[in-house]
Amino acid sequence: LRSTNGRLAATLTPARQQVTLAGRDVSALSYNGGVPGPTLRVRAGDTLSVSLRNGLTDPSNLHVHGLHVSPENNGDNMFVSVAAGDTFDYEYVLPANHPPGVYWYHPHAHGSVADQVFGGLYGAIIVEDPVPIAASRERVLVISDITFTGVGDIAAATAHEIMSGREGELVLVNGQLNPTLAARPGERERWRIVNACVSRYLRLRLDGQRMSLLAIDSGRFESAQEMEEIVLAPGNRADLLVTVSAGTAVLRSLAFDRGASGGMMGGGSGTPVDVDLATLTVAGKAGEALEQIPTQPVPRDLRATTVSARRELVFAMGMGGGMGGGMMSATINGRVFDASRIDTTVQFDSVEEWLLTNTSTLDHPLHLHVWPMQIVEEGGQPVRTVKWQDVVNVPANGSVRVRVAFEDFSGRSVYHCHILDHEDSGMMGVIDAY
Ligand code: C2O
Ligand code: CU
Ligand code: CU
Repeated sequence: LRSTNGRLAATLTPARQQVTLAGRDVSALSYNGGVPGPTLRVRAGDTLSVSLRNGLTDPSNLHVHGLHVSPENNGDNMFVSVAAGDTFDYEYVLPANHPPGVYWYHPHAHGSVADQVFGGLYGAIIVEDPVPIAASRERVLVISDITFTGVGDIAAATAHEIMSGREGELVLVNGQLNPTLAARPGERERWRIVNACVSRYLRLRLDGQRMSLLAIDSGRFESAQEMEEIVLAPGNRADLLVTVSAGTAVLRSLAFDRGASGGMMGGGSGTPVDVDLATLTVAGKAGEALEQIPTQPVPRDLRATTVSARRELVFAMGMGGGMGGGMMSATINGRVFDASRIDTTVQFDSVEEWLLTNTSTLDHPLHLHVWPMQIVEEGGQPVRTVKWQDVVNVPANGSVRVRVAFEDFSGRSVYHCHILDHEDSGMMGVIDAY
């Protein structure tokens, strides 16, 4: 679905339906009958109107992940609950300077986000480039994982899986298992990759082919970065150019140790394994030569900016309830989410520096809505390049320092762990900028 004359009006209907996933007929959740849901294509300056018709038997809502849009007037998910059978109309106005790139949408009804996303509710949003980048073709690759029961339902998470973050047995690309992608030698493909998994990290490789990374999240680099491996935490996106040469290459996700197996939190998802995601076959006569990749605008750098406030967010997990009690706590600064409390008050039009500290044995990918974060320090070491992301991984027993410019929009929003089981367990805080 593509905007015309500065406007895209879309209807999204989440419902339980029979769909084909991983080649099987299953009962899953979907937007408009497809998994993933329709791709929404907009431009900076556009108005995106979405009519959400909740066809589920539970409350849901809609979140436009990563879009730099106002959280006021119900623009931001969390504080809106759309009851089963109800319709809610969202309107998002993208600023004229909105960064191009890959974004996505998913439900954000606290307590059932992981279940609804795992069930199949997610889709991509593309903010088109102001100056097109020549490519032979573009593919949107929404990567998710899922587990089926024997009768073709979606498996519920066990207590252990909720604790460590559920990972599905099958990893899907646009709802398919290991699809084949065909190209001709010398072609340049644009891959828009979304990690829509509830908890799985993707450590992507495409051995034998050339990958140039344009951006992670909204953070477009000045020039495309040649990469051998790209790590996407849950919620992250990659905007990628692949210059192909003859042969067959497998897009794989290598095992990533996020601390979920072994140790106190272990047992949920087993040992991480390598997964084949898709197979790229390159054959035939050479594709046409393409123009060079245009240089991108120099990204903003907050490292030389005066910081007006510093704060720390501490991510912790613990067990309560004694032997076999199984009460998990997932906290930020010692507290679980409470929608009626404001955890962080920031001054509008200021730059803050946040130290993100993880005291647990699991990684936690922190996501802040509305305002992107510049990563300035990882594990105590300064970051050399300019990296803007809206999901930043905070490694087990590690720390990351970010800077955020609270500008353009004031209002109330949230930050949370994007392991959605952790978010549902309360690893989320409310932020108010005014
Ligand atoms: Cu992708 Cu608050 O979420
Ligand atoms: Cu978000
Ligand atoms: Cu977490």
